[in-house]
Amino acid sequence: MAQTDSSAPARKPRRANVQIDRLDELAGTDLADLCEITAEAIIDGEGFLWIKVPPLRVLENYWKGVLLVPERSLYVGRLDGRIVGTAQLYHPSPNNEAGAFAVELTTFFIAPWARGHGVARGILKRLFREARQRGYKNIDLHVRADRSAAIALFEAHGFECWGEKPRYARLKGRYIGGRYYTKQLG
Ligand SMILES: CC(C)(COP(=O)(O)OP(=O)(O)OC[C@H]1O[C@@H](n2cnc3c(N)ncnc32)[C@H](O)[C@@H]1OP(=O)(O)O)[C@@H](O)C(=O)NCCC(=O)NCCS
Repeated sequence: MAQTDSSAPARKPRRANVQIDRLDELAGTDLADLCEITAEAIIDGEGFLWIKVPPLRVLENYWKGVLLVPERSLYVGRLDGRIVGTAQLYHPSPNNEAGAFAVELTTFFIAPWARGHGVARGILKRLFREARQRGYKNIDLHVRADRSAAIALFEAHGFECWGEKPRYARLKGRYIGGRYYTKQLG
C-alpha cells in the first residue's frame, strides 16, 4: 500500500478548458509558466527532483535544454491557455536496440493549485496515444512511494508495480522508498 500523502489536494470539480500540447519550441509565456510551476512544485515538495528552488537562470536552461535533447519529448497541460503541468517521454537511445520497445514517462507534475481538474489524466492519455503511434509496447516509470495521488492515477490507468526500492530518494537525511511500474501498450 502507498503511504499516506498528507499533502495530496482535495478533489475539485472538473473544468472543461483543459488542453494538452506537445512542445517543440517555447512561445509566448511558455518558458515563464514552466519555470513558475516548477518552482511551485519544488516549494510544495511534490513534483521535481530539485529539493531547493534553483535560480531562475538554471530553471530556464533546464527547460530550454529539454527541447534540445533528441531522446526527450515534452508535453504540457494548459488551463485557460496557461501551462499548469508537464510530463516527458524519455526515448531509448539509438544504440539501445534491445530496449527499443519501451519508453519512460518522467518529470510528470501538475502545479499544486491546478490539481483535480483532469490535467494529469489528459496528459497521460496523450502520452499513451503518442507512445502507441511510435510503436512502443511498454511505458515505464518510477515514483516515490509516498506520492499517493500519482500512484492512484497510475494504477487506475493500468500500470503494474513490478518492484520497490527502499532507498529511492534522500531528503533531510531520511531515505524514502520508490516504486517501479510498467504498462503494456500492446
Ligand atoms: C499526481 C498528479 C500528477 C495528479 O494530477 P491532477 O491533475 O490533480 O490529476 P487529475 O485531476 O487528472 O486526476 C486523475 C486521477 O488521478 C488520481 N488522483 C489525482 N489526485 C488524487 C488524489 N489527491 N487522491 C487520490 N487520487 C488522485 C485519481 O485516480 C483521479 O481520477 P478521479 O478524478 O476519477 O478520481 C498531481 O497530484 C501531482 O502533480 N502530484 C505531484 C507530482 C507527482 O507525484 N508526480 C509523479 C511523479 S512520477
